[in-house]
Amino acid sequence: MSIFDGQLHINVSVASGSEQVVKRELISLGYEAGPANYGRVSTTGSIYDLGRLSVNLRTANRIYIVLSQFVASTFDELYDRLTEMSWRDILPSDAKVVTLAKSVKSELYALSSIQSVSKKAIVDRLKEQYHLISLDESGPLYTIEVSIVEDRVTVSLDTSGSSLNKRGYRDLSVKAPLRETLASSIILSSVWREDRVLIDPFCGSGTIPIEAAMIATHRAPNIHRDFEYLSYRGVDTQIDRVRQEAQDNIVEDRELRISGFDIDQNCISIAMHHARRAGVDRYIHFQRQDVRELSSRYKHGVIITNPPYGERLLTDKQVHALYKEVGRVYRSLEEWSMYLLTAYPYTEEAIGIGAVKKQTLYNSEMRCTLYKYLGSPPKREK
Ligand SMILES: C[S@@+](CC[C@H](N)C(=O)[O-])C[C@H]1O[C@@H](n2cnc3c(N)ncnc32)[C@H](O)[C@@H]1O
Repeated sequence: MSIFDGQLHINVSVASGSEQVVKRELISLGYEAGPANYGRVSTTGSIYDLGRLSVNLRTANRIYIVLSQFVASTFDELYDRLTEMSWRDILPSDAKVVTLAKSVKSELYALSSIQSVSKKAIVDRLKEQYHLISLDESGPLYTIEVSIVEDRVTVSLDTSGSSLNKRGYRDLSVKAPLRETLASSIILSSVWREDRVLIDPFCGSGTIPIEAAMIATHRAPNIHRDFEYLSYRGVDTQIDRVRQEAQDNIVEDRELRISGFDIDQNCISIAMHHARRAGVDRYIHFQRQDVRELSSRYKHGVIITNPPYGERLLTDKQVHALYKEVGRVYRSLEEWSMYLLTAYPYTEEAIGIGAVKKQTLYNSEMRCTLYKYLGSPPKREK
């Protein structure tokens, strides 16, 4: 029996700092969320649920099916445990098998050896189960991750292929773009709601306004992209049903007040192009504007942004002067909240106000801090 016909143990990987957000996403989609462990949150579901998670989760990096967990502190043990698994229930005889390795605080730490021993064990077992002398590996790709944490091995199938931050709408590049998953994570954990004003004064390629408009219109982030598991042999993925449900879930004709500004007209053109590709261009006002000119007629609103830093365009002195201007503009915006993601270490000094909260987050490999400034929320009308 194929494992894809039954209940799957699913692991969702997420960037450090976004674990609670992905858990809330899982729960709101109707799934249980186990404790976060080394950047993974576990849940269970069928192959249809795997599709729902792949299409709908905004903050997940990748989605894995956990195949086995055991303890191994020698290569012999690793090989033996892997050859005990019934790989025929997972892989066709022509599967192209790629193994990846991770190791944290374990006796087995040489990644290339973990990779090659694992591959040999899987191939040996497949040859035995299919009664073959050799495997031609001409079929679909299966990426198998062997992750060892404190000698505990987790063997998983990476079902995503390219990372889930790649929604597909961003096809033109700017310097230092924000990961789509991180943008969503910051928006979802902010005080912004779809009836509130949102401004990104340093919008670059438009990631923050676009992700916000997708959230507000209930657009699944990955509705149009492919996942590696869709090419698995003989699996009824039910992806058409998942995509149709996601399509039916979209709410159009919203009255949104989302704006993106940037000093660079080329960035504004790229942001508009990306918003069109994401299907949310009608919800966002993009305009070329220097942050120094930012003002608003609204008493309440939210700024979510990542100003320039670390892309070697500005000297530290220029960054300090620019952030000082951000502080001046922010103080003029009465009851606004501001979420500012940057790696510049003197941000609070430059802004001139201490943040209410600070959180460490990673944009790709760069360690950044999210500075949170909170204004009072608007009073709800009765
Ligand atoms: C780190 S990038 C933002 C990347 C964006 N979040 C994305 O995902 O593409 C910073 C942006 O600030 C813009 N910028 C620099 N100085 C500015 C200023 N004085 N006013 C407005 N935008 C400015 C740059 O053109 C750049 O696009």
